[in-house]
Amino acid sequence: MYNKNERILIIGAGGQIGIELTENLSKLYGNENVIAADLKPIPALSQNPFETLDVLNKEALFSIINKYQIKQVYLLAALLSATGEQNPSFAWKLNMEGLFHVLDLAKEKQINKVYWPSSIAVFGPTTPRINTPQHTVMEPSTVYGISKQAGEGWCNWYHKKHGVDVRSLRYPGLIGWKSAPGGGTTDYAVHIFHEALKNKKYECFLSENTALPMMHMEDAIRATIELMHVPSEKVKIRTSYNLSGLSFTPKEMALEIKKHIPEFSITYRPDFRQAIADSWPASINDAEAREHWGWKEHYNLERLCENMLSNLKK
Ligand code: NAD
Ligand code: SER
Repeated sequence: MYNKNERILIIGAGGQIGIELTENLSKLYGNENVIAADLKPIPALSQNPFETLDVLNKEALFSIINKYQIKQVYLLAALLSATGEQNPSFAWKLNMEGLFHVLDLAKEKQINKVYWPSSIAVFGPTTPRINTPQHTVMEPSTVYGISKQAGEGWCNWYHKKHGVDVRSLRYPGLIGWKSAPGGGTTDYAVHIFHEALKNKKYECFLSENTALPMMHMEDAIRATIELMHVPSEKVKIRTSYNLSGLSFTPKEMALEIKKHIPEFSITYRPDFRQAIADSWPASINDAEAREHWGWKEHYNLERLCENMLSNLKK
């Protein structure tokens, strides 16, 4: 059960996840109750109230919370793994300060609930790579991963110490057709569809046998909304939940695309993102998410490819 009249603020609403999350939350709460915020206006979300916001500006964030009497915040603004490595100090600043601003608002009871995504990037080269469990070695090797791991610790601390209702998922690479990815190591799995349809070929920046955990965006949005709507006592993990959809290599994905576009060809030219991918799990064990709040994915590789190609063709 949820209060349909509660107002929600989505920070970073113009990004790969934000656009689809805003659309889906608007179906539940109404466009007028889901406020989109980002550094610049978002043409795809013209039905929702929009606020220009730099999440690093705490006063501006406070004034939007007050203006709309916001009760829930989804904080999506961050630098991702690849762009984070190019600008480490800013990645740390954005990924950590934005989170503190929102957690402090919840601590002061200005808002009731916070969603903040973590990532498979919290794991590192010393983590068991196959079927990576919820609780395991976590020695991330990217600035992005370090910031997500620290963020998870802070979420847990604000929950335990101040009763903040903050919820989080360790997303794998997300694949959707409605919005472009924003600078991650898993971005190839979106670009490949656009190139397959446009040019019938793709040069992949990861090597052919690099298996990574991935998920269709619809599944990820559904997981997010389900987690945010279960009663608080069911959310037993306040760092962040492992979340699994599927796992595949670029070669396996190319073979699946070839079933639809026989002339499609792929070549491989690994760049700096290969080392990042090599430090991450190949597959994820999400037994806790399934047991605590009933998570189950809908998409396998076959359905995902079909869905991406048919929608992008339109
Ligand atoms: P994205 O880069 O596509 O979108 C981020 C959005 O935040 C952009 O629209 C950007 O303009 C906005 N933004 C950047 N700086 C801002 C600031 N200072 N103030 C306000 N807005 C700002 O990212 P995404 O893929 O949508 O990811 C959202 C969140 O999910 C991030 O925390 C990311 O780490 C996490 N995540 C994403 C994936 C994935 O595969 N997309 C996987 C794991 C975790
Ligand atoms: N898709 C994200 C990235 O590659 C994982 O957090 O950065």
